[in-house]
Amino acid sequence: MRCRKCSAKAIIRLPRHNTAFCPPCFSEYVTDQVQRAIKGDRMFGHAEGVAVAVSGGKDSLVLWEILSRLGYRTLGLHIDLGIGEYSRISQRKVEVFASARNLPFVVHSLRENHGAGITEIAEGVHRPPCSACGVIKRYNMNVIALQHGMPVLATGHNLDDEASRLLGNVLHWQDDYLDKQSPVLPNSHPKLVRKVKPLYRLAEREIAAWAVLQKIDYIVDECPNSVGSKMFVYKDALNRLEDAAPGTKHQFYFQFLDRQKARAQVSPIEPDLRECVSCGQPSTAEICSYCKLVGTLQREAEPALKVLK
Ligand code: AMP
Ligand code: FES
Ligand code: ZN
Repeated sequence: MRCRKCSAKAIIRLPRHNTAFCPPCFSEYVTDQVQRAIKGDRMFGHAEGVAVAVSGGKDSLVLWEILSRLGYRTLGLHIDLGIGEYSRISQRKVEVFASARNLPFVVHSLRENHGAGITEIAEGVHRPPCSACGVIKRYNMNVIALQHGMPVLATGHNLDDEASRLLGNVLHWQDDYLDKQSPVLPNSHPKLVRKVKPLYRLAEREIAAWAVLQKIDYIVDECPNSVGSKMFVYKDALNRLEDAAPGTKHQFYFQFLDRQKARAQVSPIEPDLRECVSCGQPSTAEICSYCKLVGTLQREAEPALKVLK
């Protein structure tokens, strides 16, 4: 197998683009796709600081590496979820990565702030861990990024993440979520960051291959709370479709984005935001979902958590 660009020995085949690349041409392809996302979707410019949400997994570390190589001013932001060994290894991967490259980062620890990890917090508020985790991560990442003067928050979501999320949202016709599923969410309030997903043009296996080529050391394990998650079922279904008809994932997600853009031109979606009466952060309800969660935790769960400690 030869590289379609320079005819050297290819190391990866990309059936969805009907091509194959050698290591340098593959590396160029990956960087080009990220630059195309940043520039084409007007995600951010070199004058803006970008907070990169880094979990210690391959996607977010690859994203951080590419953004810093492209010369963007970045700040790593890691949420320590307090899930035993998994969280300890995740944080270690972030620390080693950052110190080898002299990149700044901040860590927000749930145990330090709430006295418990995400698993106990979720049990305490009677919610599935991933739902409580999403609320806590979104809220803190927004606040911490702005506290550090970063108007943009970048996450490592890739094409597989976005296509499987789209499949889940379509299967359940979750119109609210469909409206919000975009690689760029503009900051519709001065207290909100602009949320961007610069890896959305790249498939998971392309990012994993790039991470290996660049010798990026990341945590391979998935979060223990994600065992049995529907997202894995959707990803698996899309992978089977992709094997049978390369390009299916890309078409599914990119055609959705085209329709979404066309719809937004006819009737732009403006979220109806006010400020949470408890914390002052933007919210669609009187009390934001974070304050509701923390309120439930204080009322019902904290006495029990104190007994557990
Ligand atoms: P996931 O939902 O685990 O697939 O993660 C999607 C993206 O969210 C990652 O690529 C990161 O950018 C971000 N993320 C997930 N977990 C964390 C964490 N504990 N700390 C910081 N960022 C995270
Ligand atoms: Fe949120 Fe696992 S519970 S990443
Ligand atoms: Zn609030």
